[in-house]
Amino acid sequence: MNASVAIGEASDLAEQTKEALRRLAKAVVVITARREGRSYAMAATAVNELSMAPPSMLVCVHRSASIHSPLAAGADFGINILHCDQESISRACSGATKGEARFAQGAWGAIHGTPILLDAQASIVCKNEARVSYGTHEVFLGPVTAVRLHGEVMPLVYLDGRYTRAM
Ligand SMILES: Cc1cc2nc3c(=O)[nH]c(=O)nc-3n(C[C@H](O)[C@H](O)[C@H](O)COP(=O)(O)O)c2cc1C
Repeated sequence: MNASVAIGEASDLAEQTKEALRRLAKAVVVITARREGRSYAMAATAVNELSMAPPSMLVCVHRSASIHSPLAAGADFGINILHCDQESISRACSGATKGEARFAQGAWGAIHGTPILLDAQASIVCKNEARVSYGTHEVFLGPVTAVRLHGEVMPLVYLDGRYTRAM
């Protein structure tokens, strides 16, 4: 049997976990929020559906990310599911640009005051109803308040440490 079994130091487990997660294909989204006249955007993959009763979502945000403070202050959040042609928007929103310069690229609008990327495959706006702190991250979650669908189903995927497409 050719299997690797992780038993041992916590640092080994962290490396093993990262290696395992390289094999988990994730659709790339941009989380958005607006607070006190400023808009925030961050590329993310640690995003999930929570329940359909009621429809609800969760996002996992590192405390050091610039979008963390508006979310911690209670701003509602948008989840913009990127199209496979939107890799450059993901790069802009994961450090290549900062602050509101992230909105210079792409067509942006708003629903209930939360920024949305109009040419994303879909945008889901959620009320920021609860948060859970865990380690370096905070999980924000709440019910869906609006959904916008756009164009074909053709997601941008992050797998094995790089961008790819699903089909
Ligand atoms: C594909 C990809 C997925 C990411 N997923 C997350 C995530 O789920 N949560 C998170 O806090 N940061 C995630 N990041 C990192 C942030 O996008 C990045 O650190 C960002 O620059 C933080 O925002 P800031 O520059 O506004 O502080 C991801 C980055 C990439 C490239």
